[in-house]
Amino acid sequence: MERSCYCSEPRAGQAGETLLVAGWVHSRRDHGGIIFVDLRDHTGLLQLVFDPQENATAHELAGQLRGEFVIAVEGRLRERSEDTVNPELPTGSVEIMADRLEILNSAKPSPFPIEDDARITENVRLSYRYLDLRRPVMQRNLRLRHEVVSITRRWFDESGFIEVETPMLTRSTPEGARDYLVPSRVYPGSFFALPQSPQLFKQLLMVSGVDRYYQVARCFRDEDLRADRQPEFTQIDMEMAFVDSDQVMASVEGLLKKLFTELAGQSFDAPFPRLTWHDSMDRYGSDRPDTRFGMELVDLTEVFAQSEFKVFRSVVEGGGVVKAIVVRGGADMSRKELDDLGEVAKTHGAGGLAWIKVTDDGWQSPVVKFFSDAEKEALSERCQPADGDLVLFGADSYRVVCDVLGNLRCHVAELRGLADPERFDFLWVVDFPLVEYDEGDKRWQALHHPFTAPRPDHVDKLDESPGSVLADAYDVVLNGVELGGGSVRIHSPELQQQVLGVLGIDKEEAGEKFGFLLEALSFGAPPHAGLALGLDRLVGMLTGSDSIRDVIAFPKTQRAACPLTDAPSPVDLAQLRGLGLRKDA
Ligand code: AMO
Ligand code: AMP
Repeated sequence: MERSCYCSEPRAGQAGETLLVAGWVHSRRDHGGIIFVDLRDHTGLLQLVFDPQENATAHELAGQLRGEFVIAVEGRLRERSEDTVNPELPTGSVEIMADRLEILNSAKPSPFPIEDDARITENVRLSYRYLDLRRPVMQRNLRLRHEVVSITRRWFDESGFIEVETPMLTRSTPEGARDYLVPSRVYPGSFFALPQSPQLFKQLLMVSGVDRYYQVARCFRDEDLRADRQPEFTQIDMEMAFVDSDQVMASVEGLLKKLFTELAGQSFDAPFPRLTWHDSMDRYGSDRPDTRFGMELVDLTEVFAQSEFKVFRSVVEGGGVVKAIVVRGGADMSRKELDDLGEVAKTHGAGGLAWIKVTDDGWQSPVVKFFSDAEKEALSERCQPADGDLVLFGADSYRVVCDVLGNLRCHVAELRGLADPERFDFLWVVDFPLVEYDEGDKRWQALHHPFTAPRPDHVDKLDESPGSVLADAYDVVLNGVELGGGSVRIHSPELQQQVLGVLGIDKEEAGEKFGFLLEALSFGAPPHAGLALGLDRLVGMLTGSDSIRDVIAFPKTQRAACPLTDAPSPVDLAQLRGLGLRKDA
């Protein structure tokens, strides 16, 4: 038995040919003695006809078919009569008159219909992932992901990179998340960590003279999950020696342009725009701005420094800022909608959400009565609100206002459909601060990771004012999603030691955790830099998926579990004892 084609392939021009097709029963309809079956494989649907006049045996067997039975059918292809043509299907003008039917396997009733718009809960989808993956949209996602990886590999290959695998069983590679640990049987009480990224190994490969490395690399991070985060995910990871940041950025742009040209039909005629981290925060309240729409943050701190409105004045007196965004045409929002926006603001830390509706009858607002004429004038001048607009205010510390207005900006854009879904707005965010102060831990933390180089002209500020040091780091952002991040690395062991010191890691701890890296840097490490793209996010953007779970074959739930295999699962005591994790009898 040899299949002659996939379900979606036969065309009217082949009428009269005998074909053998195989797949799953998508649906069965009995029409006055004649049975119609839609046969499905990963390419699409094909109509089969079982006519008792033509072949009684096949027809009788077809009576047993139910949804998702696996069958092979041989028969003659014919054109459908005009009134039965289905213009929705590529094979809608043909059908196979079945001569022979073989039932290859039966199937229990599927827990959900194998259709794109089937409404299924996440848990059911993941419990029966193999059925979920039969749905056409999931097949498309898997295949597009394969295309991305295949184009990526070809592109790196043609650009002189080699793929090198780095270990999964390793030491902690800090990227800011918790590690997944694997106990060692041979060394009871000791653990491997699964890599949060191949960061340290790719740097070691630069010391080895590999020069241009890439890897489609699996990474593991035990962190709070969101729609765009999985505990186990894949990076397109790369590193280059003897380059500066511009060369890495040009290289990544080359790959992204190729992928989005080939797979999304986009055209790019210029380098991606660049925005400094400070400008990005000032203008969009975010380090991964969606630049498909405006609604930029306007600074009003000075305007309200001496205001009668105590909420604003006291924030400014306390060193905070007052900012606003203008929602064009937003004055049509109801009280309820404004209250909802207030709730969104509060989830991001706001104490409240002052607003002004600009209408024919002037400004409607619960707070405008406290504003002086000069304040109103300055506000008008800076925000340029027109009739029908809505102004939303944030007053708090700089970081909270960024968070509140940055998130409201995206929330309002989503509500009002302001972002063109067909547009891909890439941009680089550069000049990140090297470190930020963690109020909880009372110490400086690396914004990227501890191996990122400070900008050469900022190195001398490292010890006396670490917070003002900018890093030679860059993130690539697409439509408000951080697709990738990278940096120039520290290649001097002394500077690496100094930066670790700023991060509160003393010589002894540095030696214990990163001694191997510091030593490698002292054996002739070339200058090097690199970046990693999140493959899952990249494919998610190309497929327009709401969650990266839709582009991963077997993802974990939001609670970091796999309902299909029931992992993680308890293990028996003997196994724990064997690993030295339980000493009791
Ligand atoms: P970073 O931590 O920024 O950098 O990660 C790079 C990219 O990986 C993706 N990503 C994730 N995707 C899905 N689920 C997650 N939990 C997750 N975490 C990160 C993002 C992110 O931009 N070693 C450095 C790279 C370098 O400096 O070269 C690193 O891992 O798209
Ligand atoms: P209150 O004095 O708390 O009743 O607030 C007066 C108005 O200012 C209300 O409309 C609040 O929503 C708004 N408001 C309060 N705190 C803030 C803040 N931190 N940022 C913006 N608006 C605020």
